[in-house]
Amino acid sequence: MIRPIVEFPEAVLRQPARPVERVDAEIDRLIEDMIETMYDAPGIGLAAPQIGVPLRLFVYDIGHTDGARQPQALINPVILERRGAQSDDEGCLSVPDYRVVVSRANWVKIQGMDRTRKVVTLEGEGLLARLFQHETDHLNGRLLIDRISSLKRNMFLRRHRKRMRTTHVHDHTCDHDHDEREESAGAL
Ligand code: NI
Repeated sequence: MIRPIVEFPEAVLRQPARPVERVDAEIDRLIEDMIETMYDAPGIGLAAPQIGVPLRLFVYDIGHTDGARQPQALINPVILERRGAQSDDEGCLSVPDYRVVVSRANWVKIQGMDRTRKVVTLEGEGLLARLFQHETDHLNGRLLIDRISSLKRNMFLRRHRKRMRTTHVHDHTCDHDHDEREESAGAL
């Protein structure tokens, strides 16, 4: 079942999520819904708080745009090691129509439980490392706008407030900018 994606500034995105205590049929269903919601968005990663569920788990699939779908889930993930640095464009399904350059570690080692209830230790580099850090941030109540300069954050907040004020049905006679809905593919 596709669930609605929660967007900034909803409070659930700002609270640290609780550990999953038991991986049962309910968690399996939640994972299925998250995967469906992620592909529908479309995005390459989705954390449970993004559908309003404050639990420590996320799903991802960074390869499905050019190959077969291989959805993965990580339950109670912990980043064990970070190395190097990268700066690249990043987007978030909970912060729609916004992309910004975010500095992250270029390599991480992460541990968690997969969908088969096996504890796995994974290494990610580049985009996968970025995804692991972005989704783990979600579980700690942090968003990509917490990872940028205060100048850029203030610009984002100003634009966000303006858009909240101008939410109405556009016709072709209004004189302010129409934000085209950007492609969300690649958002986390
Ligand atoms: Ni996100």
